[in-house]
Amino acid sequence: MSLRAATASASILVAALFAMPFARSQSIEYRPDAKLWVIQAGDFTYAMGVDERNWLQSLYWGPRIDRAEDIAAAHSLPEVVSFDLPTTTTPQEYAAWGAGLYTEPDLKATFSSGNRDVVLAYVDQHQTHDANSQTLDITMRDIKLPLVVHLFYRVYTGQSVLERWTTIENQTKEAVVLENAASATWSLPNLQNSNYRAHWLTGRWAGEWQLQSAPLNVGSQVIESRRGSTGHQANPWFAIEGPDSTDEEHGPVYFGELGWSGSWRITIEQSSFHQVRITGGYNPFDFGYRLAPGESLTTPPFYGGFTGGGMGEASRILHHFQQGVILPGAPHPKLRPILYNSWEATEFNVGESGQFALAEKAAALGVERFVIDDGWFGQRKDDHAGLGDWYVNKEKFPNGLKPVIDRVHQLGMDFGIWVEPEMVNPDSDLYRKHPAWAMNFPGRPRTEGRNQLLLNFARPDVMEYTYHWLDELVSNNDIDFLKWDYNRNWSEPGWDAVPVADQKKIYVAYIHNLYTILDRLRAKHPKLEIESCSGGGGRVDLGILRHTVEVWPSDNTDALDRLSLQDGFSHAYTPGVMMAWVTDPQRTRKTSLKFRFLVAMEGSLGIGANLNNFTPEDMATAKDLVAFYKTIRPTVQQGLQYRLIAPSRPGAPSERAATEYVSTDRTQAVVFAYLHSQNFGDPYPLVRLSGLDSKATYRLHPLDAKQLLSQQEASGSYWMSHGLQLDLRGDYDSTAVVLERTH
Ligand code: DGJ
Repeated sequence: MSLRAATASASILVAALFAMPFARSQSIEYRPDAKLWVIQAGDFTYAMGVDERNWLQSLYWGPRIDRAEDIAAAHSLPEVVSFDLPTTTTPQEYAAWGAGLYTEPDLKATFSSGNRDVVLAYVDQHQTHDANSQTLDITMRDIKLPLVVHLFYRVYTGQSVLERWTTIENQTKEAVVLENAASATWSLPNLQNSNYRAHWLTGRWAGEWQLQSAPLNVGSQVIESRRGSTGHQANPWFAIEGPDSTDEEHGPVYFGELGWSGSWRITIEQSSFHQVRITGGYNPFDFGYRLAPGESLTTPPFYGGFTGGGMGEASRILHHFQQGVILPGAPHPKLRPILYNSWEATEFNVGESGQFALAEKAAALGVERFVIDDGWFGQRKDDHAGLGDWYVNKEKFPNGLKPVIDRVHQLGMDFGIWVEPEMVNPDSDLYRKHPAWAMNFPGRPRTEGRNQLLLNFARPDVMEYTYHWLDELVSNNDIDFLKWDYNRNWSEPGWDAVPVADQKKIYVAYIHNLYTILDRLRAKHPKLEIESCSGGGGRVDLGILRHTVEVWPSDNTDALDRLSLQDGFSHAYTPGVMMAWVTDPQRTRKTSLKFRFLVAMEGSLGIGANLNNFTPEDMATAKDLVAFYKTIRPTVQQGLQYRLIAPSRPGAPSERAATEYVSTDRTQAVVFAYLHSQNFGDPYPLVRLSGLDSKATYRLHPLDAKQLLSQQEASGSYWMSHGLQLDLRGDYDSTAVVLERTH
């Protein structure tokens, strides 16, 4: 074997090993002699220990170390310089602000006595487990006062993710206001010349999921939402590559994401001593959570992991975790049906006959779920009125929803409808009756956005009212699906129905009540599925995904823009939850129906185009492509995703893109390839595949035989080392190739 061939096969072996679906075991081991814990979380090891001061230190986070006894006990760090005390230089697992802490605190508290100093010391530990997970609870306590902090660590069978969260209990006799209450801090190994590179996601309305990347430097980088919800502007996910340079499928990556749909913050901080810590949880901005004696606060979970398999494997670990643990129905969440939504066809102008016509056309294409969007209720003619009045508009649907729902069912589809339960238009009966239900500071102006105000979901009466009208809507109509929208962020977050000292609890209570409504609805209506939408992708996080089966990632449905948005999205979330509609060509550019379909097939396929404008040829093309998608749906939605050629990313324009999905048993793979624009005569490069069984043989089934120049059958190793030769030409060309394992 030549040196080149040997190197190539070695890298295939490494790639194949990393592609194993996280087979290594999970465990939490306590070594009382050394007072340390070693957590094996699939492909990585995490360790922490108690030092002589009784502080809990981070000891290790990185590649798996199977011999747990090799990990040495924690030792207190001496003072090296009076300007950076050990409080600051010790990599504490959960640092309280006190005793000279200058780095980002996890906990900052003010006692009603005036004390603001907290120093946490180890008390004890205990562990529990159930069939699928093992949980460690480490109890810490302030050195003087019974302010007790439980640090939780949980590993899940078959998963390479560690979940961490915290409960803070006020066992003192005085009130304590928590100004910071983070979920956890993750410390990176302090390696010389570490050369870490951070990745995070930013965006705006219709421009979410921009993958930002930059070297980590001394100082802090903050990604956050102060908006009361997750936000389009940043997403609670991070990944840090390094220390050695990596490519998409190789090299160390530390990653994490929060499970919270309210205001949140992640701070990536590198100290002057090059210690990197990532602290995340509730956003401390305007937080001030008051704990009366006996009260406690639990933080959202902060999930983290490590892989040696590059950014690609980091994403696949998260996808697998979301499918296996987070989503409703996990570990076997249902596949997403192919959906038609009439919003872009009709906007607010919905009505019985128009919806009938669209439903018939959608059914003819093979669509499985028909959704009526905004406009069906109250006095809703445009976005100025109606939110809050959730009765069927009789001018638009004189016979109620039943005839449409019956027709949709007769056509073999299930039925869904749009709601925006957290909002109220001042021009609505609900607001006229209950103006105090809107989030506000009494006597202050109420800032409108899209002519609407927020209902204060922290109020128990608002929660009950909302649950009941939703329950009635779903009980009285045969509704399978709710698209739950949310079209503005908070302003004037007042809650005057509770004492002033408790009013800031709105940041936590609102989100818990939102989750409660979703859970009660799903419990009472087990077949009901809910999508999280917030003017596009403004509410996508691992908190909402515990209660909703899918998300709407963006109001931008331009196919080329979508390639980049979907690429960013895939770093943090599984394609199985990503709704993607084929719509009419947007104002920006004209793309073929095939191009638009193939882009939408990278996630959970939907159609939002105005089918009344489809020609018979369009209908035939769409029908074939819907049928094609059904043959690859489980592979795309629940398989392993490989980003083969990245589309344009901020600062890195690209003329091409290619993505591959491999079924978990590696019997099927599908490759989507796109060409934005071609320089004259420039051939499409070879597309090397990933994740196949190198020894197996795969046969190619191209969507369009003319676009495939490769032979039809070869080994997995050939497709991964040599690659596919595709023939894509001109502007906005695209193709798909399915590989089926033959033996
Ligand atoms: C914003 C959503 O993202 C759209 O898909 C649509 O449902 C509109 N709201 C309706 O008002």
